[in-house]
Amino acid sequence: MGEFIRVKDAFYRYPSCEDWAINGLTMSISDGEYVAIMGSNGSGKSTLVRMLNGLLKPQRGRVLVDGQETVDEVATWAIRAKVAVVFQNPDNQLVAARVEEDVAFGPENLGLEPGEIRIRVEEALGLMGLIELRHYPPHLLSGGQKQRLAIAGAMAMKPQVLVLDEPTSMLDPQGRREVLEAIGRLNRDEGLTVVHVTHSPEEAALAGRVMIIDSGKVALDGVPGEVFSQGKLLQEYGLAVPVIVNITDGLRIQGVAVPKGIIGVDEMVEWLWPLL
Ligand SMILES: Nc1ncnc2c1ncn2[C@@H]1O[C@H](COP(=O)(O)OP(=O)(O)OP(=O)(O)O)[C@@H](O)[C@H]1O
Ligand SMILES: [Mg+2]
Repeated sequence: MGEFIRVKDAFYRYPSCEDWAINGLTMSISDGEYVAIMGSNGSGKSTLVRMLNGLLKPQRGRVLVDGQETVDEVATWAIRAKVAVVFQNPDNQLVAARVEEDVAFGPENLGLEPGEIRIRVEEALGLMGLIELRHYPPHLLSGGQKQRLAIAGAMAMKPQVLVLDEPTSMLDPQGRREVLEAIGRLNRDEGLTVVHVTHSPEEAALAGRVMIIDSGKVALDGVPGEVFSQGKLLQEYGLAVPVIVNITDGLRIQGVAVPKGIIGVDEMVEWLWPLL
């Protein structure tokens, strides 16, 4: 497993701003990982996202994608092709009159041959379960379908990393489930590296690793069980813990010896079931 993304002591400040949005941030992400990023409003998550595909360049320090520096102008397009980004609002990301044209938009801009574009569109529609909706106008889709379409458009670029910045925050529970399942599938079955920015601890717990950003730096980094067992610290960073963690903390205070690392409903049930 190679380190596909490396951020080394990176700094970024917006021209209009006095404070560093990214303030000496160091981290790396390996091929095939599923990393959730959490942090309070303004902690620098979206700025980091924009740095990962070279949209913003570090003013100090380094950001490397697949060994290439994002400040290197020659690497810009290669990096954009390797790191696809999906944002919060699907309506701002959909451009065409029909679903399949929307997916084809990116590959067309890459200047690929029509045959290759068709193959990529088929694959991406299939991956996201959108084959039946291919002739639909995107504005008639549900929120979850729209966001899956945005992901399909990203996948048609054949990226190595998919970065999602709060992709479910505008969706209802059903749409949220659809998108989370799609993200999990891409990571599990396609081996895609996923970076998922979210405010939901339950969503973050689905990842293999959770990174907490505070004031433009990495504050905590580890497997979900580890990170979410640090309730006090998380509160200091302005973050919630999964509901199950609140329950297990409460049980421990009552003297019940709950094993470490229980952060999801399934794990809770698995532990409770034999006790009944
Ligand atoms: N375009 C911009 N111009 C000036 N300052 C900005 C801009 N975008 C973000 N900032 C500032 O940079 C800091 C980090 O913002 P960023 O959007 O990265 O945070 P975030 O963690 O994504 O927050 P949220 O959870 O609200 O999405 C904040 O202080 C913010 O005000
Ligand atoms: Mg943000």
